[in-house]
Amino acid sequence: MRNFFLNSKKVAKDNDIVNDIDMSNIPKHIAIIMDGNGRWAKERKLPRALGHKAGVETIRNIVKACNNLGVHYLTLYAFSTENWKRPKEEVNSLMKLLVEYLKKEFEELNDNNVIINHIGDISKLPDVCQKELNDAYNNTKNNTGLVLNLALNYGGRDEIIKAFKDMYEDLQNRKLNKDSINSELIEKYLYTAGMPDPDIIIRPSGEQRLSNFLLWQCAYSEFWYSNINWPDFKKEDLIRAIYDYQKRERRFGDVK
Ligand code: IPE
Ligand code: IPE
Ligand code: MG
Repeated sequence: MRNFFLNSKKVAKDNDIVNDIDMSNIPKHIAIIMDGNGRWAKERKLPRALGHKAGVETIRNIVKACNNLGVHYLTLYAFSTENWKRPKEEVNSLMKLLVEYLKKEFEELNDNNVIINHIGDISKLPDVCQKELNDAYNNTKNNTGLVLNLALNYGGRDEIIKAFKDMYEDLQNRKLNKDSINSELIEKYLYTAGMPDPDIIIRPSGEQRLSNFLLWQCAYSEFWYSNINWPDFKKEDLIRAIYDYQKRERRFGDVK
């Protein structure tokens, strides 16, 4: 299945691949669980850190592709609230890669009108990461292109707990009353406040679980899985996912 485009003559030119999808029905919000870096490295007898490094290359390509396709929001799950359980060296190398990525890519992303946003509790990240993330956001927040959400120390349950706490405080301070609590209000307390829910969640590497990603937001998201490890994930795979997405019928509980 995944070779559909790779084997197709249409793969010859970028524009031709894009011709296979309906440009009037591009998902507004794509969320990706970037998984399989470790297995990619293991297959090559390389240290896991090199798998993560290879994964950064994929980020670069996929961000560019999403921006060119006119995707409005791209949320990348980069570090979960559970990933702190990993060996310290691995956590450190991920944090280092984050800083390198932001430093190296800032100019091009900014030139391409991308807003570099983050979701998750970044206060637990090393200071240097927080600074790069805040600077990247502050210097790009007035751009008008793709919103790139880097999910860092992000957990869906953590996000909901934070929302409960903030709401409780607002109830106590009488900024809120019980009757005003509804879906729209809860959304305002999430990291993704003001953003549309993801239309599609992509998970490479063969795993078929959410791993605590966007629990509230993915109520009606389409899931798309593939066995490709993230460092091998190509623009053609993204196009394939969008192509498949466009064939699905989203009913939101209604009947057709
Ligand atoms: C995803 O790749 C990157 C992070 C979770 C930070 P993994 O490191 O989870 O790769 P696998 O699952 O071990 O192959
Ligand atoms: C999910 O991947 C988190 C990120 C991609 C950042 P994991 O590799 O941590 O998830 P599990 O442990 O396989 O569920
Ligand atoms: Mg994994």
